[in-house]
Amino acid sequence: MDAPGGSVTREAPVTRRTLLDVLLGSSALAWLAAVVYPVLRYLTPPKDAGGANKVSLTAEQKGELTAKGFLVVRLGTDRVLVFRGQDQKVHALSARCTHEGCTVQYVPTEALVWCACHNGKFNPDGRVISGPPPRPLVAFAVSTEGDAITVSRGGGAA
Ligand code: FES
Repeated sequence: MDAPGGSVTREAPVTRRTLLDVLLGSSALAWLAAVVYPVLRYLTPPKDAGGANKVSLTAEQKGELTAKGFLVVRLGTDRVLVFRGQDQKVHALSARCTHEGCTVQYVPTEALVWCACHNGKFNPDGRVISGPPPRPLVAFAVSTEGDAITVSRGGGAA
């Protein structure tokens, strides 16, 4: 090919060596990306890592609370047992048993929180009544305004 100045230029030929260098380089980059991306993803906390600080019950959840007397809702990564006690107030405790982590439930007829896994029992404040649980359930704050029921962190331990 003639250059504008009249000289002839040649493009470098693609040698087998150049081709192998490109293939090895791209393979190394792909391997690096396959290793680095999962590590970075593992090290980056999820957006809702315990993040949500409050949750308002939906109409359906309020209906379940009325029908069953309790329900379990999600607050970030936590499970929260919401129940109406014999005092007709709405209470909220961690639904995660402090023994081995089973989900607890409220037993309205006995006015206690019960863990079916090993028969652990708690009072409505979350204190251990009997069974193997070593610690009380963490309490969550409940606020009611009109028809709205909101559960939030900060109720403190029982
Ligand atoms: S997990 Fe609840 S009593 Fe064992």
